Amino acid sequence: MRFFSLSFVTFFSIFSISSCGLDSLNMHKETTSPDGKVRLVFQLKGGIPYYSLFYHGHSLISPSKMGLRFKGYSHLDSNLVFLSSESASFSQVWRPVWGFTDSIRNNYNQLTILLRQQDTAHRPMEIVFRVYDDGVGFRYRIPDWDGVDSVFVTDEKTQFHIAGKPEVWWTPANYDSYEMLYQNGPMDSLKTANTPVTFRREDGLHFNLHEADLTDYAGMTLKKADETNNVLECDLVPWPDGIKVKAKLPLQTPWRTIQLSRDAGGLLTSHLIQNLNEPSKIENTSWIQPMKYVGIWWGMHIGVFTWHQGPKHGATTARAKQYIDFAARHNIPGLLIEGWNEGWETWLSGKNTPDFTKPYPDFDMEEVARYAKEKDVRIIGHHESGGNVPNYEAQLDSAFRYYERLGVRAVKTGYAGKMHPEGQHHHGQFMVNHYRRVVKKAAQHHIMLDVHEPIKPTGLSRTWPNMMTREGVRGMEYNAWSEGNPPEHTTILPFTRGLAGPMDYTPGIFDLTFEQAGRPDRRVHTTLAKQLALYVVLYSPLQMAADLIENYENQPAFRFIEDVPVDWSATHVLQARIGDYVAIARKDKHSEDWYIGAVTDEQARLLELPLSFLQAGKTYRAEIYCDGSGADWQDNPLPVEITTCAATSADTLKAALAKGGGMAVRLIKVSETGDKPVMYIKDFNDKQIEKINTF
Ligand code: NOJ
Ligand code: CA
Repeated sequence: MRFFSLSFVTFFSIFSISSCGLDSLNMHKETTSPDGKVRLVFQLKGGIPYYSLFYHGHSLISPSKMGLRFKGYSHLDSNLVFLSSESASFSQVWRPVWGFTDSIRNNYNQLTILLRQQDTAHRPMEIVFRVYDDGVGFRYRIPDWDGVDSVFVTDEKTQFHIAGKPEVWWTPANYDSYEMLYQNGPMDSLKTANTPVTFRREDGLHFNLHEADLTDYAGMTLKKADETNNVLECDLVPWPDGIKVKAKLPLQTPWRTIQLSRDAGGLLTSHLIQNLNEPSKIENTSWIQPMKYVGIWWGMHIGVFTWHQGPKHGATTARAKQYIDFAARHNIPGLLIEGWNEGWETWLSGKNTPDFTKPYPDFDMEEVARYAKEKDVRIIGHHESGGNVPNYEAQLDSAFRYYERLGVRAVKTGYAGKMHPEGQHHHGQFMVNHYRRVVKKAAQHHIMLDVHEPIKPTGLSRTWPNMMTREGVRGMEYNAWSEGNPPEHTTILPFTRGLAGPMDYTPGIFDLTFEQAGRPDRRVHTTLAKQLALYVVLYSPLQMAADLIENYENQPAFRFIEDVPVDWSATHVLQARIGDYVAIARKDKHSEDWYIGAVTDEQARLLELPLSFLQAGKTYRAEIYCDGSGADWQDNPLPVEITTCAATSADTLKAALAKGGGMAVRLIKVSETGDKPVMYIKDFNDKQIEKINTF
């Protein structure tokens, strides 16, 4: 694997074996994180397995039950006896093919507990805990059982007994969609949830529940185990017949994960989910390249184009060439083209039979591919299955071969519609396996993926780094055809959905009110400067400039979108409070430049952003795009003030964010000596802007 390097690896194990007498129904083992701050306790009490979790000496998860239930075999959640345990430690530094940092430390202490059913000697189960400085993962392993080839899991009895009364951010459990606004309130108000779910305790500790390495298993949702206390229980997405997981032995479940941080910002630099996945299975990854893209896309969502053929058809040969010219002129590498293929008339009709190798007559795919190549622009293909999986799977091979022949190196897939086969859910085991088949098929054809209506990310991109980004979020498009996403939405996403993996949110709308669409009630609920800031705040290795290209012409602020990278070597969180504001600095992987994105909710704010992450003793030119005079998302979203000044690591940038506003900054290293302090102050009240030491 190209970038993989082991800088330091240790792995040692200590075994302890117990006899299987009656005492084995009760036992206790514990382990801590490498820094000693996280303590995981496993207990067997009367044959029932429990785990609990402590962080900085505080109880976060009170003793919580564990186990699996099967059809036709004794359950493994009670009447268990302890057989043995094993401890191990691991430390390694690895380099992701792309990411928000360029090197990741995978360092944990592991505790493995071997149990078996009291009444059947030949039905053992392992529980594996990995305890990191930034959280915990645990999974069940069912090894080969004598004479048993496969099992049906009817239930997973993992519980999370939340200690105390933390505040929580969640979306209600849904077996088919994650495209919802986040709810926020005390634990009592949560009844069911998709993961990730994020908690803030009164003492300021933050944690998050999710899963990692979701492979050949059902997606996990959570439900309240009982109404009176704080116990959440795993609720797996079922098959149509009610079975949760149909598995060959040996079976290994996904990791149940608990990410931990002393503050909100710390959650954003955790690599727990990636670390709990296997290293890359793709050896030569040189064809996997993060990029920005424009698209024949927003026009369909605001109703000025259609996906299907007709007078308003978006994907015509002429329009594709116009978009290719724009991309080439503005150094945007990619162009997404939706609505190019036969069958869109059947979308959402109940029939839904698109053809993935047959372009519409007014779209000359061969010519568009030729023209794109000539202009050095990469087409991003589109497969909208509409949820008709058999129709898509039947064409999978030919569809990817077709695009590969035409030089297409990335494909956006979609599952918008009712799932077929009927009774299957987007997030059940059947679909988890389908999504994985598509990732592998795409890899065979050297194609990167952007999956819409996906299964949630669980770190798979480490193993299959062509799995670039995905939706699984209530994205920009909701502003086009619904009441939209309120200003606070993007101040919640990094701490919730974003903890799972990259998001194809599709920022960059400049015409925030899109009046030409004839819907005065529809709009984007941010200022323009905040649209720029989202490129830094919402991490994705494929990042769209989502607006109609004509809305970018002659817009000085578009310069930021041209400049901003999509692949980073370092990330620092400068300010963070879930649902209120977040400011993040990231370093370009291919230069010495830094970028900052800061966003706020519906409140105007002044955030102090210390630039101590800059190289000491050097001077940087700061190009600042902030909310202009009188800007606010509701009445005056467009003014952007673009200023340039000098900055050093000793400076603090004062970011004045309008209501629903934001600020984007590029910091370019320009000299070897830095002695020019910079202050940037903008006062909303008297609309004065003061700049000192303009570069
Ligand atoms: C829903 C996707 O999220 C959106 O991006 C796409 O344009 C439509 N489906 C059509 O495929
Ligand atoms: Ca969608």
